[in-house]
Amino acid sequence: MSRLDSFIRRLEAQRACLDHAAELIAGLVGPMLELGLGNGRTYDHLRELFPDRDIYVCERRVAAHPDCIPPADKLLLGDMFETLPAAREMLGGKVVLAHFDAGTGDAASNRKLAAGLRPLIVPLLCPGGVLATQQAMDGAGLMPIPLPNGVAEGRYHLYRA
Ligand SMILES: C[S@@+](CC[C@H](N)C(=O)[O-])C[C@H]1O[C@@H](n2cnc3c(N)ncnc32)[C@H](O)[C@@H]1O
Repeated sequence: MSRLDSFIRRLEAQRACLDHAAELIAGLVGPMLELGLGNGRTYDHLRELFPDRDIYVCERRVAAHPDCIPPADKLLLGDMFETLPAAREMLGGKVVLAHFDAGTGDAASNRKLAAGLRPLIVPLLCPGGVLATQQAMDGAGLMPIPLPNGVAEGRYHLYRA
């Protein structure tokens, strides 16, 4: 598969998983958490899916498309290893959907980042809340759930808290 095909499939998987997650959490009340603003593409998609929900966004340095910059009171600006523990009082046990997309092209450092942040993300989820992530985050407190049709195993990951 060419790198272009792989890139397109990754983005299709990401969108399919976010759309599926939206159905899974439809009955839950609470905020969303976008972990990695980047260009703001998935944040923008979440805003479209959830126009009436609070979406908190973690990012160490905002460089998103100007239309995709979160309001200051929803931006957790700084390194997630610091901002997530600081957000525990506000968001602990309340997040209905967290989307983790903070990786780079380096698989080993992505695994390390995901493993390091996992214990900071899980306590923020509400019971039944969903985590969508490009990196696997198997372990205590998270139950893997099936991917939507058309998304190859391992390309994206969905978990229920
Ligand atoms: C792949 S990009 C996100 C892409 C974005 N979801 C989109 O669709 O445009 C990853 C982002 O995560 C941020 N990031 C990575 N590690 C971080 C950390 N430890 N704390 C805060 N932000 C981090 C990077 O600065 C980068 O902007």
